[in-house]
Amino acid sequence: MSEVLRAGVMGWPVSHSLSPALHGHWLQRYGIAGTYEAFPVEPDELPSVIARLRDEGFRGTNLTVPHKESAMALVDTIDDTARRIGAANTLVVQDDGTLAATNTDAYGLIENIRADAPEQLAAKFSGRPLVILGAGGAARAALVGLADIGATEIRIVNRTLARAEALAGIVADQDLVVRAMGWEDRARALADAGLLVNTTTLGMQGQAPLELDLGTLPADAVVNDIVYAPLETGLLAAARQRGNPAVDGLGMLLHQARAGFRAWFGIDPEVDDDLRNAVLAARAQ
Ligand code: ATR
Repeated sequence: MSEVLRAGVMGWPVSHSLSPALHGHWLQRYGIAGTYEAFPVEPDELPSVIARLRDEGFRGTNLTVPHKESAMALVDTIDDTARRIGAANTLVVQDDGTLAATNTDAYGLIENIRADAPEQLAAKFSGRPLVILGAGGAARAALVGLADIGATEIRIVNRTLARAEALAGIVADQDLVVRAMGWEDRARALADAGLLVNTTTLGMQGQAPLELDLGTLPADAVVNDIVYAPLETGLLAAARQRGNPAVDGLGMLLHQARAGFRAWFGIDPEVDDDLRNAVLAARAQ
């Protein structure tokens, strides 16, 4: 009997997820006998659904809102990345039947920047301070990713200063200084920075614009917005206009998916224009 490898994404709601289009594109491209579907799972059902994963032929699953934190209590092992981020977005059924949780967002953020600004990443942005706008779940992933590439100073700038301060402790390391700064200090935070990452919802379709004067940002600093609707945010347009290398947010979604696909289906899939176009077409529907 030939086995169909199953994976998917679980959320509540989940109908807007782009992950089925993304993984479906790869399954087809690599000719894998597998499926990747979106499963609406109510919070109350999550424990029983996760308990049945292996018996129902799943290699694993992605998790989205509201399951990323609660799932961590339902697995056998949690890796260091998910533990520090405080959330899991990928579960993998191991060969011995146990269930492992990880978080691929930090990997996705870094690999996306590597794809568009490889030299700057290799040079650790010239050793200059790295700036994260925001202090939510996406900021936690960015912080872990940037700490792991060997940043020496990270500035977390957030409207609610206490949230930025709470984040600073998750990557405690004697070689890394993490500074929490208030929103009114954002122009000051950009001075001498090597990278700026927006993880707030500002600039997203239907949200308020991100009001940020880039005047103090060095002209060679890389600017990455994790917002990808619209693809070209006001921040990225302003960055490009003054000559800063700009990295859009769609790539983070695409690259974070590589890690799950690799773990479930055994192939490290490629992120290219065909994939981007397939996912953009799914978003437009
Ligand atoms: P996620 O988990 O997806 O990152 P989140 O936890 O809702 O989302 O975080 C959204 C981020 O956008 C937060 O940093 C939030 O700032 P607060 O911590 O002060 O709430 C930021 N944000 C949202 N609206 C904002 C606004 N109008 N001005 C400044 N920051 C804003």
